[in-house]
Amino acid sequence: MKPMGALPPEFAGQRSMLTIAGRPADDWAEATPVFVYDVGIVAARVARFRAAFPDVDLHYAIKANPLPALLDRVAPLVDGLDVASGGELEKALAVKPASAISFAGPGKRDVELRAAIRAGATLNVESEGEATRALRLGEDLGIAPRLAVRVNPDIELRGSGMRMGGRPSPFGVDAARAAALVRAIVANGADWRGFHIYAGSQALDAGAIAETQAATLAFAARLADEAGAAPPLVNLGGGFGVPYFAGDVPLDVEAVGAALGEALAARPAVLGQARFAIELGRWLVAEAGVYLTRIVDRKESQGETFLVTDGGLNHQLAASGNFGTVVRRNYPLALARDLGGAGDETVSVVGPLCTPLDRLGDRIALPHADAGDLIAIFMAGAYGASASPSGFLGHPPAVEIVAG
Ligand SMILES: Cc1ncc(COP(=O)(O)O)c(C=O)c1O
Repeated sequence: MKPMGALPPEFAGQRSMLTIAGRPADDWAEATPVFVYDVGIVAARVARFRAAFPDVDLHYAIKANPLPALLDRVAPLVDGLDVASGGELEKALAVKPASAISFAGPGKRDVELRAAIRAGATLNVESEGEATRALRLGEDLGIAPRLAVRVNPDIELRGSGMRMGGRPSPFGVDAARAAALVRAIVANGADWRGFHIYAGSQALDAGAIAETQAATLAFAARLADEAGAAPPLVNLGGGFGVPYFAGDVPLDVEAVGAALGEALAARPAVLGQARFAIELGRWLVAEAGVYLTRIVDRKESQGETFLVTDGGLNHQLAASGNFGTVVRRNYPLALARDLGGAGDETVSVVGPLCTPLDRLGDRIALPHADAGDLIAIFMAGAYGASASPSGFLGHPPAVEIVAG
């Protein structure tokens, strides 16, 4: 038997039938597979952030979950939306003023740059070449583009699942050239919005995040001094992780907030007037989502019991262990009608795809389950439906429901 991650606290105390946003899982599962997102859980996350970071803006990185019906509900709760493509930009513009939208990501095409400039969104430029194209397109449109400089920092986020700083990178301009780029942007009449400094994702160690944020502040101050310009905004990145796997300890966000509060109070004068933002994806939405999939077949093979479900890695690539993890581990799973029940059987939960990669639970302990029963996979609110190969093998896409 292999361990599973712990159920999120919002569900961990439940017994018998799983309820999501106050209704039994069965009610949500008329059509399966289905993702159900409880907006109440997202709102609670936002409130927790506000209490811990009273002087910092909160941005939602919509790549974590760009479902329009969810964006509708989340946008009013946050100060800004961060997007990573022209498609995401369009979705963000439907729910938030352009002045609260920033666009990061390498390889922005002219059509995307133009759309952002025309709308008035901020472009986090990733290279000198991209800045030159944005300035030229701005000139053609007769609009001073809003440009921030994304810097590839000399800092890495210790312990993060995905490091994005401190090494050669397609993201951002190397630190040594960032000040020169700021000067060029300002000299060319763009509306310089500040710095975007993103060091990594999925970190659970409050000390490591606090250390990175303090280093990022000092780094931004040094760049501003070098550029001879005070940034209106410093986006400090994010990287707040969530506990997916057995042994993961939830991030102590309050400790991060307290440390950042102290660092901000002592910040260098050149950042005296700056606003600060933290951009978060999964920490805001992952735990709000549950994926419900129905068992189609129960079978035995060479001593192993398989529960074959109607959804798999085509909707939940991350839970199958094929989205950026090196060692496959089990997400939290449960038999929806028997939460807290004794896990007296060892079973593997597999999806319907013809590939051994399509394994959602590997030799986990569950109460006895049969065809027709619902399996719930937790931590499904981020990098689920939109980050999975839904066209693979031609199964229908998952239903997505915003609840609460
Ligand atoms: C620039 C940027 N912002 C935000 C995110 C969101 O990360 P997470 O969902 O881990 O908060 C990422 C993730 O890769 C990113 O690259």
